[in-house]
Amino acid sequence: MSGVIGVFDSGVGGLSVLHHIRLQFPNARLIYVADSAHVPYGGKPTHYIERRAHTLTRFLISQGTDAIVIACNTATAAAVASLREHFSIPIVGMEPAVKPAVTATRSGVVGVLATIGTLESARFAALLDRYAGEVEIVTQSCPGLVEQVEQGDLDSLRTRKLIERYTSPLLARGADTLILGCTHYSFLTPLIRDVVGEHTALVDTGAAVARQLLRRIEAELPDRTAGDATARFFTSGNAALATRIMSSLWDDSVVAQQLPQTYL
Ligand code: DGL
Repeated sequence: MSGVIGVFDSGVGGLSVLHHIRLQFPNARLIYVADSAHVPYGGKPTHYIERRAHTLTRFLISQGTDAIVIACNTATAAAVASLREHFSIPIVGMEPAVKPAVTATRSGVVGVLATIGTLESARFAALLDRYAGEVEIVTQSCPGLVEQVEQGDLDSLRTRKLIERYTSPLLARGADTLILGCTHYSFLTPLIRDVVGEHTALVDTGAAVARQLLRRIEAELPDRTAGDATARFFTSGNAALATRIMSSLWDDSVVAQQLPQTYL
């Protein structure tokens, strides 16, 4: 195994997962692709997202990637099964953290913030069947929120108003635990915390995904702490814009390159 880990999302949201991957694999070579020309995935047809997921996976494999993380709940719901059918390398997906939230709630009501694509997927329905038990699960899609993060707008009044609009029905139903079921929302954690108050638990999934990746590929990685850490960043959208926004969200300054034409 060459130790290159490829990560993709519809946009910059997956950088929140990449952060946890970097912590688990301090010296791995990372490649991140933001599918910015096609963001948001939420609301797009399943076959569209599936096609993009295949295209991005082919690009990542062309760059020497030997494990893939779908740092996107929506793309996982739409495409993880068909990616695993077509590609033989390990592919780790993610889904809203229902199980830990159900364990954490004291009020017996859990709210899920996610895209409409995730909430309407068969995978999400199966997840609830498996883990919800007696707990009431209240869902809320959040149109417009991904776009705010894509603009690097993490704390404006408009972003706050959207968060108030989407969280208030969940709190009104008695939810004491909110699942951040979209990787973009992780970047809004401070603002969401400010809006919902300190007594509402926020459950994120990024760290669990990185641990899952570690379990999947540990045996094949000779030494995950050896080698030169690198991170390369790509976008299907505007490279200058992606460079600016990604640099504000990643731990270091980023130079984003545009994907080659065949992958756009
Ligand atoms: N970040 C993605 C997710 O986790 C999708 C956001 C979008 O493109 O709608 O679901």
